[in-house]
Amino acid sequence: MSSFDIVNEDYAHQFVRQNSKMLKNMFGSGDLTPFWIADMEFKVAQPITDELNRLVTRGVFAYEFATQDIYDAIAGWSRKRYQLSLDAKYFLQISGVLTGISLLIRELTAPNDGILIQTPVYHQFAQIIKTANRKIVRNPLQIVEGKYKIDYVDLEKKLQIESVKIILLCNPHNPVGRVWKKEELQKVAALANKYGVIIISDEIHSDIVYSGHRFNSILSLEQENHIALLGSPAKTFGMQSISNGYIYIPNEVTRKQVKNTIEAMYLNHGNALTTFATIAAFKDGGRWLDGLLQYLESNINWIQGFLQKELPFVKMYPVEGTYQAWLDFRELNFSKEELSQLIVLKAKLALTPGNWFDRDCALFMRMNIASPLAKLQTAFKRLQIVLDENN
Ligand SMILES: Cc1ncc(COP(=O)(O)O)c(C=O)c1O
Repeated sequence: MSSFDIVNEDYAHQFVRQNSKMLKNMFGSGDLTPFWIADMEFKVAQPITDELNRLVTRGVFAYEFATQDIYDAIAGWSRKRYQLSLDAKYFLQISGVLTGISLLIRELTAPNDGILIQTPVYHQFAQIIKTANRKIVRNPLQIVEGKYKIDYVDLEKKLQIESVKIILLCNPHNPVGRVWKKEELQKVAALANKYGVIIISDEIHSDIVYSGHRFNSILSLEQENHIALLGSPAKTFGMQSISNGYIYIPNEVTRKQVKNTIEAMYLNHGNALTTFATIAAFKDGGRWLDGLLQYLESNINWIQGFLQKELPFVKMYPVEGTYQAWLDFRELNFSKEELSQLIVLKAKLALTPGNWFDRDCALFMRMNIASPLAKLQTAFKRLQIVLDENN
């Protein structure tokens, strides 16, 4: 076992992932082994716990701001891990990545403008666009030789004929696990420039990238008009309930406009626990993250091996980044209802249904693999028994 600890089963049910009421609501049964929501079953890095202990032990929660220190810590992290040079002055703090995307869409577009997303993609993107009364414009990803690729022809067509104002990228891409290569980003950016469209890049999964792949931020293209949401420690360090979001806007006019709104609404008032835990994570969490990545990668390798040997008709797409496995059950020829019955009622697993991410993906499931290997092994063996019985 590596240098991180597993969440204790005695209190695991207190979290959304394993809460039986929540499971019953979402899946129709409370008695499931959960691999759905995108958080981890591991305790955070010790420097984060130490920092939170320091604040709690003091017992004083007077006004205390250190926003600039957070930006410096994120900039230091990006320089060290990605050779990406960021200017601390370009950051804006908001309460979460989704808050940031929602705010940017409202601030930079008008009702009925188009926002382009690359489906299947994190389901909240569509939700945010819908609730802002903007139009969802889909640029479906294509599966080419077993790998998800961007369809540039369709992308250009959509930019030509729809009133698209923003391309909302997900990099690394949840749920399909792609980590976009620089050439791919360059092609999207060239089209965005040609049609005067802003790219907003959600980079919340940027630190979860496996060997053989490299994270490239949209900011590495060094073009003024792109905006990134990066630096949230939520996914990287398992701080989902104690993190903020950070928007990075190189363009001065746009930054001022967004900053005014954030300040007018006092959306930038972070709390001290989040602030200092974030600084500790980015300053002292690197080694822990390296151990985590190794562990997650060996989980992925085990799953890949198991599927190839025991369940070859279930396909897992290459997981280049994120801790989500994108599983394709289409070869089994089940209906959506049959698949869900087998997985939920028989195998007793809570996986995220693929149609959350795209209406055409009902026979896919997303599985969170940030769990102890033994738990994943039990789950896959249960899946094997159920699929063997019903195939
Ligand atoms: C791509 C992506 N963006 C944003 C979020 C959520 O971010 P936050 O909780 O900071 O709003 C998630 C969570 O799963 C995600 O996968």
